[in-house]
Amino acid sequence: MKLHFNPASPFVRMVTVTANELGIRDQIEDVPTGEFLPIKVHGGVSADNPLGRIPALVTDHGTAIHDSRVICEYLCHHAGDKEILPDEPVKRFRMLTLQSLAVGVMDTGVALRYETFLRPEEKRWADWISRQQARIAAALDDLEANWKSELSNVNCGSIAVACMLGYLDFRYGDMGWCDTRPNLAAFYEGFAKRPSMMATMPPA
Ligand code: BEZ
Repeated sequence: MKLHFNPASPFVRMVTVTANELGIRDQIEDVPTGEFLPIKVHGGVSADNPLGRIPALVTDHGTAIHDSRVICEYLCHHAGDKEILPDEPVKRFRMLTLQSLAVGVMDTGVALRYETFLRPEEKRWADWISRQQARIAAALDDLEANWKSELSNVNCGSIAVACMLGYLDFRYGDMGWCDTRPNLAAFYEGFAKRPSMMATMPPA
């Protein structure tokens, strides 16, 4: 399998952590994107995902798969896994909803990064920035209050939450998300020590 890869992307990390947890990371060859900018077409990535987004995976059968959530599901299927993504419907859809919540925060965090770091200062939109920050805070509050059971083991949802929190620490180190959210802080402290997380740290 080949993976369009950039170590700064939380979506890529979600895939590589999942592959590590499944014990199949060595079956995936990384294809580094190099510079990856939201306003430029990346020919290599776009050949496998017309949206030009990473990650995109090409299977050993030559089929392109995206986005990160579908890739994680494919990897679980490929590895014959029933724990990271269980079949049992109550667990399955709860974990997928948790994953969706975390991916939503990643989407928002990455969009904010583009707005506040890449976009020329005079074109920035303060109300939009505030709304994205509020959206992230609301999702973190929900994670703090309502997902204790799903965050107590390794599954597609807890992996996504850990990668999302890792991205917030990476790009928004002064946000202080853990100051008022002890349950989430305790979850992350434990999960971040897993070999799958240690092996996929974003660049310094
Ligand atoms: C980042 O540098 O924050 C980033 C890079 C690639 C994809 C998403 C985010």
